[in-house]
Parts: sequence; C-alpha cells; structure tokens
Amino acid sequence: MSRPEHTAPPEIFYNDDEAKKYTVNTRIQTIQAELTYRAMELLNLENDVPKYLLDIGCGSGLSGDCLSEDGHIWVGLDISDAMLGVARERESEGDLYWSDIGQGVFFRPGTFDGCISISVIQWLCNADRSSHVPKKRLLRFFQTLYTAMARGARCVFQFYPENSDQVEMIVTQAMKAGFTGGIVVDFPNSTKAKKYFLCLFAGFQNDPANAPKLPEGLAEEEDPANVLYTSKRMHDRRKGKKANIKDKNWIQRKKELGRIRGKKVANDSKYTGRKRGPKF
Ligand SMILES: C[S@@+](CC[C@H](N)C(=O)[O-])C[C@H]1O[C@@H](n2cnc3c(N)ncnc32)[C@H](O)[C@@H]1O
Repeated sequence: MSRPEHTAPPEIFYNDDEAKKYTVNTRIQTIQAELTYRAMELLNLENDVPKYLLDIGCGSGLSGDCLSEDGHIWVGLDISDAMLGVARERESEGDLYWSDIGQGVFFRPGTFDGCISISVIQWLCNADRSSHVPKKRLLRFFQTLYTAMARGARCVFQFYPENSDQVEMIVTQAMKAGFTGGIVVDFPNSTKAKKYFLCLFAGFQNDPANAPKLPEGLAEEEDPANVLYTSKRMHDRRKGKKANIKDKNWIQRKKELGRIRGKKVANDSKYTGRKRGPKF
C-alpha cells in the first residue's frame, strides 16, 4: 500500500472527504488515542497538574481529545483546513491554528511545557514543491520549536519513518536545533506493532550531565500485534475504566476556558461539581 505522503501534499490528501472519513473511523480513533497516551507517558508530566501543551499536526483533534481528557490546555497546528474544520465542528477544546510546520512554528520563547505530535513528521521528509528541501524544513521546524519550549520541556513525536535514512535525518536536524534525546522504539521485534517515538529534551545542550535519560521502549512478551500498548493505564482504558477526572477542579477549569473564549458559562456556586442525589 502506498504511503499517504507519496500520494499528495498533506493539505490536499486531507481534503474534506478524507478528513471526515479519518475522524469517524473507529480503528483510527483507537490507534491515535493509544499512540497519544503512550506519547503522554513519554512526556512524563506530573499527574493531575494541567500543562500548556502544543499538538503538532493536530488534525481533527483526536490526539487533542486525550490531552483535554487529562486536563491539559493545548494549542493545535495543522496544514489541512479540512482537518481543522472537522476539529472545530467537533468542538475540540484546543486553540487551533493553520500552519505549515516546515516554515517554522512561531510562539513567544518558552511558551509551552511540552509538545506531542502523532503520525505527522514523516510528512516533512517529502519535498512537495521545488522550493522544499526536507533537511532545511526540518531544521527550521526544530529550531523554532526549541524556542517555543520552556527549558526542561519534552517533545514527543510518534512517526512512521520510511527507512533508516529518514530517522537519521530527523534526529540530526533536531540535535542541530539544540535538543537532546533520541529515538525510543516500542516492540522492536514486531513488524506490525513496532513504533518509533522521537523524544526530545529542551535546555540541556550545554548541560548534558543533567539531561534526562532516554526512556526505554516497550517490549511485550505476548504477541504485541494483539496488545498495542500495555501500560496499566492502557489496560484500564481498554477495559473502559476511565479515571474519574470530572471533579470540581475539572469543571472549574472547563468553565474558565469557556469564559476565556467568550462562551456563556454558568456562574460558580457551592453546588459546582457536587454529586447529585437520585432523581425521583
Ligand atoms: C495522520 S494525521 C494525524 C492527526 C492527529 N495527530 C490525530 O491524532 O488524529 C497527520 C496530520 O499531519 C498534518 N500535517 C502534515 N504535514 C504537515 C505540515 N507540514 N504542517 C502542519 N501539519 C501537517 C496533516 O494535515 C494531518 O492532519
């Protein structure tokens, strides 16, 4: 099967039809969610502390939903108007912006506590126009991303490299931009379940002794093709056990976000987030 990035440029491949099909496909929803939760694990954020995160190539907001579910505030960037349109229709909670990340991402220095990107950066290895030089676009992207990250922040990119040259090109440009870190491979011995995560740390280029250690990849004894991800959290989620995060703090955060966005939101009261008794 040919890779999507060989078919057409992303803004054309992800047209209205594809954006809708992509978003309602339950298999895609599950895979994107599992990859996102694994990326969040690799981000290693403190539990129950909301952070300000960047989602690179946010698409229709499937990965972003997982960030919101864990209480984070996020900004999503994507090149496809159609994908962003579906994200808006779905009332995705992130702030969404059109962006070709190969031209750079422009935010104030140190804005974000972390960044995730699911199934996106392989697109930057392609030259869709005569003016596109993949190495240069990757370097521009990583340099501007580095600036946007708070010192100590992590960026985790799950991606589908076509070959080892692409992996090397991506890692080299990220290191040139000032990041430390490298590649984490989950299920390295399975052709089906093998997954690549580029884990980057900002702020340790001149302090390598204090740079975090690269996390270990997952290795599963049972057939990993049947169990995509295996953390306790994954098991719980797969069994439908969701963390009970819809408490008073969660409701107040959601209301605050609504107010910032100019939505009509009910006032807080002593009843906010209180468990209600049974209705008769
Ligand atoms: C497989 S989708 C993943 C979407 C999202 N991460 C999710 O979880 O559903 C890949 C996304 O990368 C975006 N993309 C590809 N190249 C891009 C670029 N140069 N700049 C911004 N977004 C890009 C596409 O438009 C598409 O929405």
